[in-house]
Amino acid sequence: MMIKLAGIDIGNDSVKLVVNESHEPVIIPNIVSPGYERHILQEEDAPLKALDVMVYSPKLKRKGQRYFVGQLATEDQDNAELEETDNKATSDQSLIVALTALAYASIMNVANSLHPGQTIDQVEYIIGTGLPVRTYSRYHQAFEERLVGEHEVTFLSTPKLKGRTVRVSIRRAIVSIEGAAALFHMATHDNLQVRDEELYYGCIGICEMGALTTDFPVVKRMSIDNQFSTGEQLGLASYLDSIIREVEDQYGYRFPSRAKLIQRIRKQDFSIQRVGEGQGDIRSIVDNYFGRAAQKIVDLIRKRWKKYPDIQCFYVLGGGASALRPYILDAAENMRLRFVENSELQNVYGYLKLAKNKTSHSSEAM
Ligand SMILES: Nc1ncnc2c1ncn2[C@@H]1O[C@H](COP(=O)(O)OP(=O)(O)OP(=O)(O)O)[C@@H](O)[C@H]1O
Ligand SMILES: [Mg+2]
Repeated sequence: MMIKLAGIDIGNDSVKLVVNESHEPVIIPNIVSPGYERHILQEEDAPLKALDVMVYSPKLKRKGQRYFVGQLATEDQDNAELEETDNKATSDQSLIVALTALAYASIMNVANSLHPGQTIDQVEYIIGTGLPVRTYSRYHQAFEERLVGEHEVTFLSTPKLKGRTVRVSIRRAIVSIEGAAALFHMATHDNLQVRDEELYYGCIGICEMGALTTDFPVVKRMSIDNQFSTGEQLGLASYLDSIIREVEDQYGYRFPSRAKLIQRIRKQDFSIQRVGEGQGDIRSIVDNYFGRAAQKIVDLIRKRWKKYPDIQCFYVLGGGASALRPYILDAAENMRLRFVENSELQNVYGYLKLAKNKTSHSSEAM
């Protein structure tokens, strides 16, 4: 059996996965709800829209449970999105979504039909992944031990995958640091050669804003600065939660999940249907909270940069950067900040490259 190399970003908002041979990332919202026999009137047109799985893993507290994962869970009354107190290194929910993603990719990526007589699919992975700056030193070993091993995912009512069981074996997990991995991706080509000398050899500040954490690694010649790198237990999610609360108070309309709200914001669709009494506009509520979030981020960056003036440039990354970009540019005034396209995917590509780097030779960048 071929061992696949993959990068997986186990995000509090979404799990992102790239498998070496395909560069299309798989993105699954990190949401689960208890699974049950669904009454299907019309089958969904893609497996990702209806991930209905049983997950068995010796690392889970509750084994062999049924879950709706990702999109299928976003509408559910009983769904769970992660909270500030959750730790992705130890969270069962995150492991469930990650294993579902790895199982899904293994049977979707290649034309991988079962051989005659074979009843379950098997896949072996070496994965690159990461933890926030502040969780890394205490948890990276526990995280690695949790991922490595034999797990099993069975797809139940999922279209096209009904009844398939995948044995997911993770041989090795290479854990790096959120934000820093993103920089490694930006600084290198796919073959790991230097792509950008300024980034590779310089002293670079990163602000990587996720759903629940924001990481501020400082990276000098591709090594993490132990003294100046930090993180905050703060991400976009708490602002989204505030928006959801305020919209409910003002309009009596409740978004069932953060995922649903951000979908609307991404489409710039700010109108909501109020019960029985026409439309409402949530634009000003969004502007207010996103403006505050941006101000907070800009203040944090300014503080860090003052403390460490050697930093040549500052990148703002993560899904938070995509969401807040215009507001951050506004708040930043004359401070020059850099943004990139698809900023929420920079880490996962970095994890894949760092895993490649660790397995191909002994040079140990980061
Ligand atoms: N392109 C985008 N436009 C607008 N918002 C986005 C975009 N991509 C992601 N987001 C939002 O930004 C937030 C952070 O997303 P991101 O994917 O960086 O979080 P995460 O990595 O899952 O979380 P964490 O880093 O805390 O584990 C989420 O609320 C997400 O919905
Ligand atoms: Mg993240």
